[in-house]
Amino acid sequence: MFDIHSHILFGVDDGAGSFVESQAMLRAARNAGIDHIVCTPHYRGNSVNRQRIAENYQTLSAFARKQGFEMALGFEVYWENLAEIGIKNANDLCIEGTDLLLLEFSPGSLPPHWQRIIFDLQGCGIQPIIAHPERYRPIQNNIDIAVEMKDMGCLLQLSGNFAAGGLFSGSKKTALKLLESDLVDYIASDAHSVADYADYKKALALAQNY
Ligand SMILES: [Fe+2]
Repeated sequence: MFDIHSHILFGVDDGAGSFVESQAMLRAARNAGIDHIVCTPHYRGNSVNRQRIAENYQTLSAFARKQGFEMALGFEVYWENLAEIGIKNANDLCIEGTDLLLLEFSPGSLPPHWQRIIFDLQGCGIQPIIAHPERYRPIQNNIDIAVEMKDMGCLLQLSGNFAAGGLFSGSKKTALKLLESDLVDYIASDAHSVADYADYKKALALAQNY
């Protein structure tokens, strides 16, 4: 099974803190049925260290491949960073070997020109994947925005922790509504730690009802 959004790469964001933790996450991923992993460190703010990401990815991917995993490198790109690096350079942030770009918005609001961002990416031959639409308040309040994203050609990706409820209870309701409306293209672990794979398994089980 394919996991298109994961913070399993150590030492580069708020995900795995060490190579040892990445290794433990690989075991949890395998236990959850995952065998293809896209490492998607946050591309957000001004603390992105591309060199460290490349070095740590070399280490982790070499280890993971020996364990029988397929692995690729991508990024979870925050929309404001996209504006900074320039849409024309966005191809560089696609998932290795694909035209897929994982795009993140803020939970509280979408940028007023979000459609423009999508158009501009598509104009560069990029296929946007919207990371965890279930977390975005405007979509929680109005599912039609997710329909509009799909109509524009975006792919939508749920993150496994919607299944946890609690902090993500608004997300859970919205995730189920998105599943019910057949708007979901991927369910990903978005794992930051070993524990997140348990929610991912719950999310997959929930999704089977739709
Ligand atoms: Fe993420």
